[in-house]
Amino acid sequence: MQPHAIPDHVPPGLVRDFSYFRSPGMARTPNGDPQAALSFVHYSGPPIFYAPANTYDGRGTWVITRADDQRRILQNPETFSSNRGIFKAALGEDLPMVPLEVDPPDHQSYRALQNPLLSPKRVDAMEAGARERAVRLIEGFKAKGSCEVMNDFAFPFAVGVFLQFLGVSDDRRDEFLGWADDQFHGTLEKRLAAMRTVVDFMRGLLEQRKREPADDFVGFLLQAKVKDRPLTDKEILGIAVLLFEAGLDTVAAALGFDLCHLAKHPDDQQRLRDDRELIKPAVEEFFRAYSTVQMLRKAVKDYDFDGILIKAGDLVSCPTMIANRDPAEFPDPDRIDLARDNNRHTAFAYGPHRCLGSHLARRELIIGLEEFLARIPTFRIKPGTAPLTYGGHVFGIENVVLDWEG
Ligand code: HEM
Repeated sequence: MQPHAIPDHVPPGLVRDFSYFRSPGMARTPNGDPQAALSFVHYSGPPIFYAPANTYDGRGTWVITRADDQRRILQNPETFSSNRGIFKAALGEDLPMVPLEVDPPDHQSYRALQNPLLSPKRVDAMEAGARERAVRLIEGFKAKGSCEVMNDFAFPFAVGVFLQFLGVSDDRRDEFLGWADDQFHGTLEKRLAAMRTVVDFMRGLLEQRKREPADDFVGFLLQAKVKDRPLTDKEILGIAVLLFEAGLDTVAAALGFDLCHLAKHPDDQQRLRDDRELIKPAVEEFFRAYSTVQMLRKAVKDYDFDGILIKAGDLVSCPTMIANRDPAEFPDPDRIDLARDNNRHTAFAYGPHRCLGSHLARRELIIGLEEFLARIPTFRIKPGTAPLTYGGHVFGIENVVLDWEG
C-alpha cells in the first residue's frame, strides 16, 4: 500500500515511524501482546505525533497518547467529527453507520431512541439465553480436553447472542459465522464481499419485517420515530449493520485475550476459581489491559493542540489500548491486577459516542468467564501451539488452543 504524502503543516519532528498495522508486534505475532507492544509511546517521544500510514488504506493520522488529551478530542465533536463515510469509502454505498457517523446535536436523537434497546434492563432479559448459549458451547467441547477458543467458543457465542438480540433464528448461526470470519479476518476482497452480504441480509430482514411485522429489533425500528418522523430505510440499515460491525469482533476478541491471559497466568486463573466475586473486576481489568478499539476522528476545523496545528481534514486517532496504559491514570499500567482499584478505563470510549453495547459486552464477558471457569478444569495453552495476536483498526487474537485434563 502506497503511503499518502505527509501534509506540509506537520512538523517533521513529530513524524514517527508508527503504524497499527506494521509497527513491531502489530503484524500476526505468535505469543504477541500488541497492547503492551505500544505502551512504549508513553515513555519516549511526544504525547501527540503523526503516523504517516496508519489506516488499512495507507492514510496518515495524528495519534493522541494520553487519556486526558483523548478526552478533550472526543468531547469536542464540533471540531472532531466521527462522520468518516466508512461504507462510502469501502463499498461506494451511501450508508451512514448510525449513530457512530452522526455528530451531535442530531446524534442525541438516535441515541435516545437506541439506548433502551441495550439498557441494563434489556441485558438482564437476555442473560438467561446468553448463558444457555455459553453452556451449550462449552459442554460441546469439554469432554475433548481441548478447544480453540475463537472458533469453538468466542465467535459462536458472540454471534449467537447477536442473533438472539436481532430476533433471528439460530439456524442461521453458521452463515453469520462465515460472514463474520470473512469480514474480520479475510483478505480485503473477502472483507468487502462480506460487508456487502451483511448489508444485503439486513436489507432482506427489513423488507421481511415490513411484510410480516414482528415484535423484535427491526420491528421496533420500523415503529420508531426520530425528530417526529419515522426512520428511513437507510437509517434502519445503518443501525443494524453498525451493530454487526461493532458487537461481534470486539466481544470475541475480548474473550480470546482474557482466556489466553488466564491460560498463561495460572495464578490469576486460580484466583478467579477461588473467588468468583473477583470475575467482575477482573473483566474490567482485562478490558483495560487488552483494549482493542481505536476511535478515529476527522478534524472539520483547524485546532490548536498545545501549539501544534491539527488542520481541517486531518485524521486523529485516539487508541484505547494506548490511553489505557497511560501511567498518569493507572499506577503500574503494564501490570495486570485483577482487583485494580478505581479502574476508570476507556475501553468503551468517552464522549457522545460512548459504546452503546457496553452493558451487553460486559455481561457477555462475565457469563463467558463464569461458565468457562465453572465447567473446564485448570487449562493451559496446548504445548506446541501459540496464539497469534495482531493489531489493526480492531486488535485481535486467533489460534488460542487450550487443553486440560479430566
Ligand atoms: C468488548 C466489546 C466492545 C468494545 C471494546 C466496544 C468498544 C466501543 C468503542 C471504543 C466505541 C466508540 C467508537 C468511536 O467513538 O469511534 C463503541 C461504540 C459503539 N459500540 Fe461498542 N464495543 C463493544 C461491544 C459492543 C456491542 C456488544 C455492541 C452492540 C451490540 C456495540 C455497539 C456499539 C455502537 C452502536 C457504538 C456507536 C455508539 C455511538 O456512536 O453513539 N459495542 N464501542
